Amino acid sequence: MSTESVGDARARAVAAHREEWGEPAAVVRAPGRVNLIGEHTDYNDGFVFPMALPFDTVMAVSDGPPDTASEIRSEGYGAFTLDGDVPDWGIYIQTTHELVGDRLRREGVEVPVWRASVAADIPTGASLSSSAAVEVATALAIADRAGFRIDPVEVARIGQQVETRLLGVATGIMDQLISATAVDGSASLIDCRSLLTSPHPLPEGTAVVVMDTMTRRELVDSEFSARAATCFRAASLLGVPALRDIDDVAALAPLASEHPLEHRRASHVVAENERALAAAEAMHAGDAAEVGRLMNESHDSLRDLYEVSSEGLDRMVDIARAAPGCLGARMTGGGFAGCAVALVRDPGGAVGVEPFLSEVVRAYESWSGVAPRLWSCRAMAGASVQRLG
Ligand code: GLA
Repeated sequence: MSTESVGDARARAVAAHREEWGEPAAVVRAPGRVNLIGEHTDYNDGFVFPMALPFDTVMAVSDGPPDTASEIRSEGYGAFTLDGDVPDWGIYIQTTHELVGDRLRREGVEVPVWRASVAADIPTGASLSSSAAVEVATALAIADRAGFRIDPVEVARIGQQVETRLLGVATGIMDQLISATAVDGSASLIDCRSLLTSPHPLPEGTAVVVMDTMTRRELVDSEFSARAATCFRAASLLGVPALRDIDDVAALAPLASEHPLEHRRASHVVAENERALAAAEAMHAGDAAEVGRLMNESHDSLRDLYEVSSEGLDRMVDIARAAPGCLGARMTGGGFAGCAVALVRDPGGAVGVEPFLSEVVRAYESWSGVAPRLWSCRAMAGASVQRLG
Protein backbone atom coordinates (compact mmCIF):
# COMPACT_ATOMS: atom_id res chain seq x y z
CA MET A 1 0.00 0.00 0.00
CA SER A 2 1.54 3.28 -0.96
CA THR A 3 0.87 6.53 0.75
CA GLU A 4 -1.55 8.73 -1.20
CA SER A 5 -0.99 11.86 0.81
CA VAL A 6 0.89 12.33 4.02
CA GLY A 7 -0.64 14.78 6.46
CA ASP A 8 -3.33 17.36 5.91
CA ALA A 9 -1.39 20.54 5.24
CA ARG A 10 -4.10 21.72 2.87
CA ALA A 11 -6.83 21.58 5.51
CA ARG A 12 -4.58 23.30 8.05
CA ALA A 13 -3.55 26.10 5.70
CA VAL A 14 -7.17 26.79 4.70
CA ALA A 15 -8.40 26.73 8.32
CA ALA A 16 -5.64 29.12 9.42
CA HIS A 17 -6.42 31.47 6.57
CA ARG A 18 -10.14 31.53 7.38
CA GLU A 19 -9.42 32.30 10.98
CA GLU A 20 -7.07 35.19 10.24
CA TRP A 21 -8.31 36.68 6.99
CA GLY A 22 -11.44 34.89 5.82
CA GLU A 23 -11.96 32.62 2.83
CA PRO A 24 -8.82 32.08 0.68
CA ALA A 25 -9.06 32.88 -3.03
CA ALA A 26 -6.76 30.01 -4.01
CA VAL A 27 -4.79 27.12 -2.59
CA VAL A 28 -1.33 26.40 -3.96
CA ARG A 29 0.54 23.18 -3.27
CA ALA A 30 4.09 22.18 -4.13
CA PRO A 31 5.49 18.72 -3.33
CA GLY A 32 8.83 17.59 -1.93
CA ARG A 33 10.83 15.05 -3.91
CA VAL A 34 12.93 11.96 -3.68
CA ASN A 35 15.66 11.36 -6.23
CA LEU A 36 15.85 7.74 -7.43
CA ILE A 37 19.24 8.08 -9.15
CA GLY A 38 21.49 10.75 -10.70
CA GLU A 39 22.95 12.40 -7.59
CA HIS A 40 25.23 15.43 -7.62
CA THR A 41 24.89 15.52 -11.38
CA ASP A 42 22.44 18.42 -11.83
CA TYR A 43 24.94 21.24 -11.28
CA ASN A 44 27.23 19.43 -13.74
CA ASP A 45 24.54 19.83 -16.43
CA GLY A 46 23.87 16.08 -16.19
CA PHE A 47 20.93 13.72 -15.65
CA VAL A 48 18.70 13.18 -12.62
CA PHE A 49 15.72 10.90 -12.03
CA PRO A 50 13.49 12.21 -9.24
CA MET A 51 9.79 11.91 -8.45
CA ALA A 52 7.43 14.10 -6.43
CA LEU A 53 6.36 12.82 -3.01
CA PRO A 54 2.99 12.80 -1.25
CA PHE A 55 4.26 15.56 1.06
CA ASP A 56 3.33 19.13 0.24
CA THR A 57 3.95 22.67 1.24
CA VAL A 58 0.58 24.38 0.96
CA MET A 59 -0.26 28.08 0.80
CA ALA A 60 -3.82 29.34 1.19
CA VAL A 61 -3.72 32.77 -0.45
CA SER A 62 -5.82 35.87 -0.97
CA ASP A 63 -5.33 39.51 -1.98
CA GLY A 64 -4.33 42.04 0.65
CA PRO A 65 -5.70 45.60 0.76
CA PRO A 66 -4.02 47.85 -1.84
CA ASP A 67 -1.00 49.83 -0.63
CA THR A 68 -0.34 47.59 2.33
CA ALA A 69 2.52 45.13 2.79
CA SER A 70 2.04 41.48 1.86
CA GLU A 71 1.75 39.23 4.90
CA ILE A 72 2.74 35.63 5.52
CA ARG A 73 1.71 33.41 8.41
CA SER A 74 3.21 30.02 8.85
CA GLU A 75 2.06 27.31 11.16
CA GLY A 76 4.44 26.92 14.08
CA TYR A 77 6.62 29.88 13.08
CA GLY A 78 4.53 33.03 13.35
CA ALA A 79 3.98 35.91 10.93
CA PHE A 80 5.92 38.55 9.05
CA THR A 81 5.36 41.23 6.45
CA LEU A 82 7.27 41.04 3.20
CA ASP A 83 9.90 43.75 2.66
CA GLY A 84 9.93 44.37 6.43
CA ASP A 85 11.84 42.53 9.13
CA VAL A 86 12.08 39.03 7.73
CA PRO A 87 12.74 36.15 10.14
CA ASP A 88 15.15 33.40 9.07
CA TRP A 89 12.36 31.00 8.15
CA GLY A 90 10.81 33.64 5.87
CA ILE A 91 13.89 34.35 3.82
CA TYR A 92 13.02 31.88 1.04
CA ILE A 93 9.57 33.43 0.66
CA GLN A 94 10.94 36.99 0.74
CA THR A 95 13.65 36.24 -1.84
CA THR A 96 11.22 34.44 -4.15
CA HIS A 97 8.85 37.41 -3.79
CA GLU A 98 11.65 39.76 -4.86
CA LEU A 99 12.62 37.70 -7.91
CA VAL A 100 9.04 37.14 -9.07
CA GLY A 101 8.40 40.85 -8.44
CA ASP A 102 11.33 41.74 -10.75
CA ARG A 103 9.90 39.43 -13.40
CA LEU A 104 6.41 40.97 -13.16
CA ARG A 105 7.81 44.51 -13.36
CA ARG A 106 9.75 43.57 -16.50
CA GLU A 107 6.44 42.47 -18.03
CA GLY A 108 4.72 45.69 -16.90
CA VAL A 109 2.54 43.69 -14.48
CA GLU A 110 1.81 45.18 -11.07
CA VAL A 111 3.26 43.25 -8.13
CA PRO A 112 0.26 42.13 -6.06
CA VAL A 113 -0.32 42.59 -2.35
CA TRP A 114 -0.91 39.05 -1.16
CA ARG A 115 -1.58 37.18 2.04
CA ALA A 116 -0.67 33.58 2.62
CA SER A 117 -1.17 30.97 5.31
CA VAL A 118 1.49 28.32 5.00
CA ALA A 119 1.40 24.73 6.27
CA ALA A 120 3.82 21.99 5.34
CA ASP A 121 4.00 18.21 5.67
CA ILE A 122 7.50 17.85 4.20
CA PRO A 123 9.99 16.90 6.93
CA THR A 124 12.66 19.62 7.07
CA GLY A 125 16.39 18.89 6.83
CA ALA A 126 15.58 15.39 5.56
CA SER A 127 16.86 15.82 1.97
CA LEU A 128 13.30 15.90 0.65
CA SER A 129 13.51 19.46 -0.72
CA SER A 130 11.25 21.34 1.64
CA SER A 131 12.84 24.68 0.70
CA ALA A 132 12.38 24.07 -3.04
CA ALA A 133 8.69 23.39 -2.38
CA VAL A 134 8.39 26.71 -0.54
CA GLU A 135 10.01 28.56 -3.45
CA VAL A 136 7.78 26.88 -6.03
CA ALA A 137 4.60 27.47 -4.00
CA THR A 138 5.54 31.11 -3.41
CA ALA A 139 6.25 31.83 -7.08
CA LEU A 140 2.97 30.24 -8.15
CA ALA A 141 1.02 32.06 -5.44
CA ILE A 142 2.32 35.49 -6.46
CA ALA A 143 1.85 34.81 -10.17
CA ASP A 144 -1.70 33.66 -9.47
CA ARG A 145 -2.55 36.81 -7.50
CA ALA A 146 -1.03 38.92 -10.27
CA GLY A 147 -3.07 37.06 -12.90
CA PHE A 148 0.22 36.21 -14.64
CA ARG A 149 0.75 32.88 -16.40
CA ILE A 150 4.17 31.60 -15.49
CA ASP A 151 5.85 28.60 -17.08
CA PRO A 152 6.77 25.80 -14.60
CA VAL A 153 10.34 25.74 -15.92
CA GLU A 154 10.64 29.44 -15.18
CA VAL A 155 9.23 28.84 -11.70
CA ALA A 156 12.00 26.27 -11.18
CA ARG A 157 14.67 28.65 -12.46
CA ILE A 158 13.50 31.34 -10.06
CA GLY A 159 13.66 28.85 -7.17
CA GLN A 160 17.19 27.89 -8.19
CA GLN A 161 18.18 31.58 -8.28
CA VAL A 162 16.77 31.99 -4.78
CA GLU A 163 19.06 29.22 -3.52
CA THR A 164 22.04 30.63 -5.36
CA ARG A 165 21.40 34.08 -3.92
CA LEU A 166 20.89 32.82 -0.36
CA LEU A 167 23.60 30.18 -0.22
CA GLY A 168 26.08 31.85 -2.53
CA VAL A 169 26.46 28.49 -4.32
CA ALA A 170 25.57 27.54 -7.85
CA THR A 171 23.13 24.77 -6.88
CA GLY A 172 21.33 22.54 -9.34
CA ILE A 173 17.77 22.80 -10.54
CA MET A 174 16.53 19.26 -9.83
CA ASP A 175 14.49 19.95 -6.69
CA GLN A 176 12.53 22.91 -8.01
CA LEU A 177 12.05 21.42 -11.47
CA ILE A 178 10.53 18.17 -10.24
CA SER A 179 8.36 19.97 -7.69
CA ALA A 180 7.03 22.21 -10.48
CA THR A 181 6.65 19.64 -13.28
CA ALA A 182 6.23 16.09 -11.90
CA VAL A 183 3.70 13.79 -13.54
CA ASP A 184 1.34 11.63 -11.47
CA GLY A 185 2.52 8.00 -11.27
CA SER A 186 5.92 8.70 -12.88
CA ALA A 187 9.49 9.57 -12.02
CA SER A 188 11.06 12.03 -14.48
CA LEU A 189 14.39 11.69 -16.22
CA ILE A 190 15.59 15.30 -16.40
CA ASP A 191 18.33 16.59 -18.65
CA CYS A 192 19.68 19.42 -16.51
CA ARG A 193 21.21 21.14 -19.54
CA SER A 194 18.19 21.32 -21.82
CA LEU A 195 15.76 21.11 -18.87
CA LEU A 196 13.72 18.59 -20.83
CA THR A 197 11.85 16.18 -18.59
CA SER A 198 10.66 12.72 -19.63
CA PRO A 199 8.25 10.95 -17.31
CA HIS A 200 8.74 7.19 -16.80
CA PRO A 201 6.07 5.17 -14.95
CA LEU A 202 7.53 3.18 -12.05
CA PRO A 203 7.95 -0.55 -12.83
CA GLU A 204 4.87 -2.68 -12.16
CA GLY A 205 4.91 -4.52 -8.87
CA THR A 206 7.39 -2.23 -7.14
CA ALA A 207 7.19 0.43 -4.46
CA VAL A 208 9.45 3.36 -3.68
CA VAL A 209 10.17 3.54 0.03
CA VAL A 210 11.63 6.69 1.58
CA MET A 211 13.54 5.99 4.80
CA ASP A 212 14.37 8.81 7.20
CA THR A 213 17.48 8.09 9.26
CA MET A 214 16.28 10.86 11.62
CA THR A 215 19.79 12.35 11.42
CA ARG A 216 20.13 16.03 10.48
CA ARG A 217 23.22 18.00 9.75
CA GLU A 218 23.98 21.71 9.78
CA LEU A 219 26.66 23.29 7.60
CA VAL A 220 26.04 21.00 4.66
CA ASP A 221 26.23 24.06 2.41
CA SER A 222 29.99 24.37 2.70
CA GLU A 223 30.46 20.69 1.79
CA PHE A 224 28.10 21.18 -1.14
CA SER A 225 30.06 24.22 -2.38
CA ALA A 226 33.32 22.31 -2.06
CA ARG A 227 31.98 19.41 -4.17
CA ALA A 228 30.62 21.78 -6.82
CA ALA A 229 33.88 23.76 -6.95
CA THR A 230 35.91 20.55 -7.40
CA CYS A 231 33.65 19.46 -10.27
CA PHE A 232 33.92 22.85 -11.98
CA ARG A 233 37.71 22.68 -11.61
CA ALA A 234 37.77 19.18 -13.11
CA ALA A 235 35.72 20.34 -16.09
CA SER A 236 37.97 23.31 -16.67
CA LEU A 237 41.14 21.16 -16.42
CA LEU A 238 39.64 18.88 -19.05
CA GLY A 239 38.66 21.84 -21.23
CA VAL A 240 34.94 21.12 -21.30
CA PRO A 241 32.04 23.41 -20.26
CA ALA A 242 30.75 20.85 -17.71
CA LEU A 243 31.38 17.26 -16.62
CA ARG A 244 28.26 16.36 -18.56
CA ASP A 245 30.40 16.69 -21.66
CA ILE A 246 32.52 13.69 -20.65
CA ASP A 247 30.73 10.45 -21.42
CA ASP A 248 33.39 7.92 -20.56
CA VAL A 249 35.36 7.65 -17.29
CA ALA A 250 38.42 6.67 -19.34
CA ALA A 251 38.52 10.28 -20.60
CA LEU A 252 39.26 11.38 -17.00
CA ALA A 253 42.67 9.65 -17.04
CA PRO A 254 44.62 12.92 -17.52
CA LEU A 255 43.47 14.01 -14.04
CA ALA A 256 44.50 10.84 -12.23
CA SER A 257 48.04 11.55 -11.12
CA GLU A 258 48.15 15.33 -10.59
CA HIS A 259 44.56 15.94 -9.48
CA PRO A 260 43.41 12.84 -7.60
CA LEU A 261 40.53 14.61 -5.80
CA GLU A 262 39.12 16.04 -9.03
CA HIS A 263 39.58 12.59 -10.61
CA ARG A 264 37.62 10.86 -7.84
CA ARG A 265 34.75 13.33 -7.80
CA ALA A 266 34.50 13.48 -11.59
CA SER A 267 34.56 9.67 -11.81
CA HIS A 268 31.41 9.61 -9.72
CA VAL A 269 29.67 12.26 -11.81
CA VAL A 270 30.49 10.72 -15.19
CA ALA A 271 29.46 7.19 -14.13
CA GLU A 272 26.37 8.51 -12.33
CA ASN A 273 25.14 10.20 -15.50
CA GLU A 274 25.49 6.88 -17.29
CA ARG A 275 23.60 5.14 -14.50
CA ALA A 276 20.73 7.63 -14.59
CA LEU A 277 20.34 7.09 -18.34
CA ALA A 278 20.61 3.31 -17.93
CA ALA A 279 18.00 3.41 -15.16
CA ALA A 280 15.60 5.25 -17.48
CA GLU A 281 16.06 2.54 -20.10
CA ALA A 282 15.56 -0.20 -17.53
CA MET A 283 12.49 1.57 -16.21
CA HIS A 284 11.13 1.79 -19.73
CA ALA A 285 11.75 -1.94 -20.22
CA GLY A 286 10.08 -2.70 -16.86
CA ASP A 287 13.36 -4.17 -15.58
CA ALA A 288 13.02 -3.34 -11.89
CA ALA A 289 15.95 -5.56 -10.85
CA GLU A 290 18.30 -3.54 -13.07
CA VAL A 291 17.01 -0.24 -11.66
CA GLY A 292 17.72 -1.59 -8.17
CA ARG A 293 21.22 -2.71 -9.13
CA LEU A 294 22.02 0.73 -10.52
CA MET A 295 20.71 2.35 -7.33
CA ASN A 296 23.08 0.18 -5.30
CA GLU A 297 26.01 1.21 -7.49
CA SER A 298 25.02 4.84 -7.15
CA HIS A 299 25.14 4.67 -3.36
CA ASP A 300 28.50 2.95 -3.30
CA SER A 301 29.93 5.61 -5.57
CA LEU A 302 28.48 8.47 -3.47
CA ARG A 303 29.98 6.85 -0.38
CA ASP A 304 33.41 5.99 -1.75
CA LEU A 305 34.14 8.47 -4.55
CA TYR A 306 32.00 11.51 -3.84
CA GLU A 307 32.15 11.08 -0.04
CA VAL A 308 28.77 12.57 0.79
CA SER A 309 27.23 9.68 2.73
CA SER A 310 27.23 9.20 6.51
CA GLU A 311 27.29 6.38 9.00
CA GLY A 312 23.50 6.56 9.44
CA LEU A 313 22.81 6.60 5.70
CA ASP A 314 25.24 3.71 5.06
CA ARG A 315 23.66 1.68 7.83
CA MET A 316 20.13 2.40 6.62
CA VAL A 317 21.11 1.34 3.10
CA ASP A 318 22.76 -1.89 4.31
CA ILE A 319 19.73 -2.76 6.42
CA ALA A 320 17.34 -2.03 3.55
CA ARG A 321 19.35 -4.16 1.09
CA ALA A 322 19.07 -7.13 3.44
CA ALA A 323 15.32 -6.67 4.08
CA PRO A 324 12.59 -8.69 2.30
CA GLY A 325 11.88 -7.70 -1.31
CA CYS A 326 14.57 -5.04 -1.64
CA LEU A 327 15.78 -4.49 -5.22
CA GLY A 328 18.18 -1.65 -4.42
CA ALA A 329 18.80 1.16 -1.92
CA ARG A 330 20.79 4.37 -1.77
CA MET A 331 21.09 7.72 -0.06
CA THR A 332 19.08 10.44 -1.74
CA GLY A 333 19.58 14.20 -2.15
CA GLY A 334 22.62 16.16 -1.05
CA GLY A 335 23.75 13.60 1.53
CA PHE A 336 25.43 13.64 4.97
CA ALA A 337 22.08 13.05 6.76
CA GLY A 338 18.36 12.77 6.13
CA CYS A 339 16.79 10.14 3.90
CA ALA A 340 17.66 7.08 1.88
CA VAL A 341 15.43 5.50 -0.75
CA ALA A 342 14.75 1.88 -1.69
CA LEU A 343 13.02 0.18 -4.60
CA VAL A 344 11.09 -2.76 -3.17
CA ARG A 345 9.13 -5.58 -4.74
CA ASP A 346 5.46 -5.05 -3.95
CA PRO A 347 3.32 -8.14 -4.49
CA GLY A 348 0.21 -6.04 -3.78
CA GLY A 349 -2.60 -7.24 -1.57
CA ALA A 350 -2.91 -6.51 2.10
CA VAL A 351 0.69 -7.42 2.92
CA GLY A 352 2.41 -5.32 0.23
CA VAL A 353 5.79 -4.05 1.41
CA GLU A 354 4.95 -4.48 5.10
CA PRO A 355 7.64 -7.17 5.72
CA PHE A 356 10.27 -4.77 4.30
CA LEU A 357 9.02 -1.82 6.35
CA SER A 358 8.87 -3.68 9.64
CA GLU A 359 12.29 -5.29 9.22
CA VAL A 360 13.97 -1.97 8.37
CA VAL A 361 12.33 -0.19 11.31
CA ARG A 362 13.32 -3.00 13.67
CA ALA A 363 16.92 -3.29 12.54
CA TYR A 364 17.63 0.44 12.28
CA GLU A 365 16.08 1.20 15.64
CA SER A 366 18.05 -1.56 17.29
CA TRP A 367 21.26 -0.11 15.81
CA SER A 368 20.64 3.61 16.42
CA GLY A 369 18.21 3.64 19.33
CA VAL A 370 15.90 5.90 17.31
CA ALA A 371 12.87 4.70 15.37
CA PRO A 372 13.24 5.71 11.69
CA ARG A 373 10.25 6.91 9.71
CA LEU A 374 9.45 5.05 6.50
CA TRP A 375 6.95 5.89 3.79
CA SER A 376 5.99 3.77 0.82
CA CYS A 377 5.31 6.53 -1.67
CA ARG A 378 3.26 6.98 -4.78
CA ALA A 379 4.78 9.33 -7.38
CA MET A 380 2.65 12.45 -7.25
CA ALA A 381 1.86 15.26 -9.67
CA GLY A 382 3.83 18.50 -9.53
CA ALA A 383 2.71 21.78 -8.04
CA SER A 384 -0.79 23.09 -8.68
CA VAL A 385 -2.97 26.12 -8.07
CA GLN A 386 -6.61 25.62 -7.22
CA ARG A 387 -8.86 28.66 -7.41
CA LEU A 388 -11.68 28.66 -4.88
CA GLY A 389 -15.08 30.34 -5.00
C1 GLA B 1 20.68 19.01 -3.26
C2 GLA B 1 20.53 20.10 -4.33
C3 GLA B 1 20.17 19.48 -5.67
C4 GLA B 1 21.15 18.38 -6.04
C5 GLA B 1 21.31 17.38 -4.88
C6 GLA B 1 22.35 16.35 -5.16
O1 GLA B 1 19.44 18.41 -3.04
O2 GLA B 1 19.53 21.02 -3.96
O3 GLA B 1 20.12 20.49 -6.66
O4 GLA B 1 22.39 18.93 -6.38
O5 GLA B 1 21.62 18.05 -3.67
O6 GLA B 1 22.00 15.57 -6.25
